Amino acid sequence: MIIHVKCRQFLYTLKQTSYFCFKNVESYPMKSIIFSLLIAILSINTSIAAQGSVDAGKGKAAMCAACHGANGIGASDAYPNLAGQHADYIVKQLAAFKAGTRKDPVMAPMAAGLSEQDMADIAVYFASLDRSGNTTESADDSAGTTPTTTAPVAYIANASAGKNLYEFGDVSRSIGACIGCHGKDGNSTVLIYPNLAKQHAQYIEKQLHAFKDETRTNNFAMMQFAGSMTDEDIANIGAYLADTKAVANVKAKPLVAAVPVSAAALAGKDKAAMCASCHGADGNSPIAMYPKLAGQSETYLTKQLLEFKSGTREDSVMAGMVAALSEQDIQELAAYFASQKPTLGAGSTSEEGKKLYYSGDAKRGITACIACHGIKGKGMPKAGFPAVANQNADYLISQLTKFKSGARANDRNSMMANITKKMKAHDIKALAQFMATMK
Ligand code: HEC
Ligand code: HEC
Ligand code: HEC
Ligand code: HEC
Repeated sequence: MIIHVKCRQFLYTLKQTSYFCFKNVESYPMKSIIFSLLIAILSINTSIAAQGSVDAGKGKAAMCAACHGANGIGASDAYPNLAGQHADYIVKQLAAFKAGTRKDPVMAPMAAGLSEQDMADIAVYFASLDRSGNTTESADDSAGTTPTTTAPVAYIANASAGKNLYEFGDVSRSIGACIGCHGKDGNSTVLIYPNLAKQHAQYIEKQLHAFKDETRTNNFAMMQFAGSMTDEDIANIGAYLADTKAVANVKAKPLVAAVPVSAAALAGKDKAAMCASCHGADGNSPIAMYPKLAGQSETYLTKQLLEFKSGTREDSVMAGMVAALSEQDIQELAAYFASQKPTLGAGSTSEEGKKLYYSGDAKRGITACIACHGIKGKGMPKAGFPAVANQNADYLISQLTKFKSGARANDRNSMMANITKKMKAHDIKALAQFMATMK
């Protein structure tokens, strides 16, 4: 059966975001209950995707063997291992190669001839194979085409450093912890996040570079993280994932020491007195024009305060407020407001806003907000995506309007500018009403 393309994209976004929102919900049945509910609430017309058959897949995968190996282990470093990869992920990539949303001159013609049923069969076949085969010694040059290989870097990759970055990310550079999505040692438990364990280092590095130069554009989070990574980080990650066992005894540690939140928050409380007249003593601004700061992420608040100070985000009122603050003051204020509870938002909700928030508008190229601001509007602190739920509606309207006109231009890679450019005033109003009342 065929799922409507738009609907499938939407389901994908939901799946992708669900991890963050429900990561405390341990049991999968519970997750699926939440999903079913959500889907019911949003009244989406779902149908079941093609069911794959391992036996049928085995036959159809013969033409893939020249490069990906009969056992799913890439014939050379340039060809990714497919053995043990999640079937959902394989299907999504094949569909993307076919549609051209993931570009690769070798895979495009391979995927072009595959039907949905073929993709499903091949995917379950590769998923059923074991990745424990030796990945490099089976190198075989009988492959049809030899893709260009990247020149070796004059840098000795450090697998332990790769492990640190993999497990903790780097908050100061907005790099999320990879482990959150790709799982411990690269074995992800969420079907839409690819397994990275025992993958060829060269392939991993090529993909990270592709996300970084935006030649692979099908995932915002990956573009954001890879965009902040250096060539050394990428080489380190490649070395780590190629053989995670080699550093099994190394205990990963965060790259930057975490700020002792409670002490900082305590210190921030005194300093926050001068912010109270506009933002409220506990960060719940009583006046709709001023943003609530309570419960907003520390990373995001710190970024904003530093940018008001440098002028990257222009506002004459806030520029005056931050001029005299030191970096330590800023960190403490951010820790204090982040530790406060936001009050519920006021006003009535908007169905139109809800629809745009959860599914965007593919025709007009408006990306669904849920992809970055989360299913409950809580944002993604590690990636620097702010919380928007329960924020004052007037403030939300002012910010969306400023991103649209360019008066606010501190969003990395113009993420918000590109989206708001396509919005009309009534879209902005509807979205603001919805976000202000999100539970
Ligand atoms: C001529 C060699 C070749 C053949 C034959 C080939 N592939 Fe590929 N495949 C590649 C290369 C090269 C890449 C990596 C593309 C890139 O760098 O983005 C790839 C990538 C993929 C990926 C993405 C893997 C990931 O981890 O994201 C999938 C899935 C895939 N191939 C499936 C198949 C299937 C199924 C077939 C058979 C129908 C097939 N390939 C036939 C060379 C080949
Ligand atoms: C928010 C969840 C998330 C986080 C955190 C994350 N990734 Fe990913 N990653 C994804 C998704 C989803 C894809 C698949 C994108 C697609 O469909 O093409 C992906 C794809 C990849 C790929 C390509 C895999 C392949 O088989 O082609 C690599 C490599 C990768 N991620 C590495 C990393 C590294 C390194 C980090 C940490 C710095 C990281 N990821 C953090 C979600 C995430
Ligand atoms: C005179 C009123 C006023 C005072 C006092 C004030 N602010 Fe603001 N603040 C504003 C306004 C107005 C904005 C919205 C600016 C814009 O439109 O971009 C703002 C925005 C912010 C933002 C951005 C919030 C977001 O969601 O992006 C932060 C963070 C912030 N203020 C922190 C502080 C801190 C910390 C203090 C005390 C040191 C403070 N403010 C004192 C009026 C004030
Ligand atoms: C690709 C990720 C992404 C998507 C999709 C996205 N946003 Fe954002 N948004 C951001 C980032 C990043 C920022 C913070 C920019 C900065 O650092 O100042 C932001 C900021 C905002 C703000 C300002 C918050 C504040 O406190 O000042 C609002 C409001 C907002 N987004 C609403 C939306 C809406 C509505 C949509 C959907 C139509 C949307 N966003 C889609 C990434 C995204």
